[in-house]
Amino acid sequence: MRINLLKSLPKVERDVKARLIAKTPEIIAEASKFGKMYFDGPREYGYGGYEYDGRWVPVAKDIVSYYQLKPGMKVLDIGCAKGFLVKDLSNALPGLDVLGIDISEYAIKNCDDSVVDKVRLGDVRKLPFSGSTFDLVLSINVLHNFDRQDLIKALKEIVRVGRSKAFIQVDAYESSEQKSNFEDWVLTAKFYGYPEDWYEIFKEAGYTGDYDWTIV
Ligand SMILES: C[S@@+](CC[C@H](N)C(=O)[O-])C[C@H]1O[C@@H](n2cnc3c(N)ncnc32)[C@H](O)[C@@H]1O
Repeated sequence: MRINLLKSLPKVERDVKARLIAKTPEIIAEASKFGKMYFDGPREYGYGGYEYDGRWVPVAKDIVSYYQLKPGMKVLDIGCAKGFLVKDLSNALPGLDVLGIDISEYAIKNCDDSVVDKVRLGDVRKLPFSGSTFDLVLSINVLHNFDRQDLIKALKEIVRVGRSKAFIQVDAYESSEQKSNFEDWVLTAKFYGYPEDWYEIFKEAGYTGDYDWTIV
């Protein structure tokens, strides 16, 4: 079902017009490497500086409460970047076994000190875990980075490694105005659409977990 688990995050100011003017094929190519420029380079390349500021603390608490997580349960955060949510989930519920995985060598090398042993390099399209390993699988603002075929592959992997509970947050729009804003803003995303487009993908991949839309 659709659930807004990121409601406590501060609203991000997006200067869509500035992004549209600055966006070049070179910037898109550089951002798509998910390296230093994407996380800690100028804003037109991505985050414009990706530092821990505690913003995920209330989100982590909401996740623990909504999914009724208990110590000893296993949680996977796919596309964990520098591991901020991994850190805050671990602190929100001592004893929770949280692991993060990300394709970015830069993000994993520059992860938060407290999660060095809890994050690792890996690709959501081929997860290095046996089936039914995790009580909860999370993937926030990651899956739209694939074309349709890889997206299905990634979602099937999420279904495979999870036991039943999952939450994904992906780019979408619900009106032509939102669509146009999104298309001006988008850097790395390859698959995005209206909710119906996503429902079709979920069905094809056999994904029955929770979800919400990031709308620009
Ligand atoms: C927009 S960031 C989201 C980071 C974090 N989940 C958040 O919400 O702040 C997208 C993340 O997905 C990661 N990513 C991209 N492709 C991936 C893949 N194939 N497998 C795992 N992670 C991937 C990127 O390196 C990046 O850290």
